[in-house]
Amino acid sequence: MANRNLAEAKRAKNDEFYTQYADIEKEINAYLEYDPDTFRGKIVYSNCDDPYESNFFRYFVLNFRRLGLARYIATSYKPSPIANTQLDLFGNDITLPPAKGRPKIAANRFIINDVGDMDGDGQFNLGDIARQLLANTNNEWAPLRGDGDFRSDECIALLAQADIVVTNPPFSLFRDYLAQLIDHHKQLLIIGNMNAITYKEVFPLIKEDRLWLGATGAGKDMVFAVPEGFEVDDKDKQKAARLGYVGNYTRLGNSNWFTNLDHGRRHQPLSLMTMADNLKFNKKMQGKTAYEVYDNYDAIEVPYTDAIPSDYEGVMGVPISFLDKYNPDQFEIVGTLESNDPDNACRTRFYTAKECRDAYMARFGKPGVYDLNASGVIRGVKVFKRVLIKQRSA
Ligand SMILES: C[S@@+](CC[C@H](N)C(=O)[O-])C[C@H]1O[C@@H](n2cnc3c(N)ncnc32)[C@H](O)[C@@H]1O
Repeated sequence: MANRNLAEAKRAKNDEFYTQYADIEKEINAYLEYDPDTFRGKIVYSNCDDPYESNFFRYFVLNFRRLGLARYIATSYKPSPIANTQLDLFGNDITLPPAKGRPKIAANRFIINDVGDMDGDGQFNLGDIARQLLANTNNEWAPLRGDGDFRSDECIALLAQADIVVTNPPFSLFRDYLAQLIDHHKQLLIIGNMNAITYKEVFPLIKEDRLWLGATGAGKDMVFAVPEGFEVDDKDKQKAARLGYVGNYTRLGNSNWFTNLDHGRRHQPLSLMTMADNLKFNKKMQGKTAYEVYDNYDAIEVPYTDAIPSDYEGVMGVPISFLDKYNPDQFEIVGTLESNDPDNACRTRFYTAKECRDAYMARFGKPGVYDLNASGVIRGVKVFKRVLIKQRSA
């Protein structure tokens, strides 16, 4: 029981990473460049977002009119360790006292129907929203009955109203979170870990072009704020500091945006060399006279995205970071080399338990099991995660 509580506490703590305003702005700008009306007339919902800390709330409220939103909804989560504790987002001059009968720490819903210059300073800012919320004019700030779990009935009722869901959800619940949005046929723009691409619940969506990577930051370091007292690895702290974020920040490699909103980057073709030219001129392919072929798939191994040959018509295994460059008009995704792609038509063989044990012994010189069926294999050795693709024109 104690262990379970500890694991639960650790999980909850690892879910508390707060997105930076600049990252949200950069990503959303990419959609606006492609289609300035992406958000026009839409209801946007951030369902893991406490306005006291969420830059998503801040971004959508401050840009409400520019984006042409019809409504913006945010709900907060009561068990969050920082629920209702970080007041400065609204400006130091504004404190939001709990209204009569409103519990101090609660999950709340915030429904913004309009923004305007309430304090008459000629500028709209978050202080204005705080005043509007307190005055309960066109906007609403009310406690939720439950704890604000995105899976609760009252949050699902708000989700039903929404056109587009935009947030950074709890990392530990990414699968459930995404599944809920897909089941409700929502447009979405959310942050997740690049590795989620190969999850069995996620990959089929990518393959069917129902989900793709966002426009910015894929596979690069993203910096997140963490609650006061959260222990950050020195290495990550320093990296965040080098990116200009000093203090309670960490960086997470491999974070990226997942979306089903269209953007310009996915329509830019990747410029490629022929197979012969890659073997001759691509430094990363030096020393090779041919592309290798998998022992267990009818496909060639392409270890780098920039080594994809322009003139190969068959199936190619490419690193998952390729998806950051993926243009659906240029390529078709046909599968992965992971075990979670059981219907893969390119698979040419399965290994027996004995072969898996023998391969481990051959590689590591001690007994163990090398799960050869869970990846591509070249001359008995597993390769890194790969996505299988084919040129569209082929
Ligand atoms: C990765 S943080 C991101 C917070 C905020 N969206 C942002 O980007 O700055 C995820 C947030 O979801 C909250 N959360 C955790 N479990 C949740 C749940 N079941 N329902 C709703 N929110 C949850 C956490 O408390 C945390 O504040």
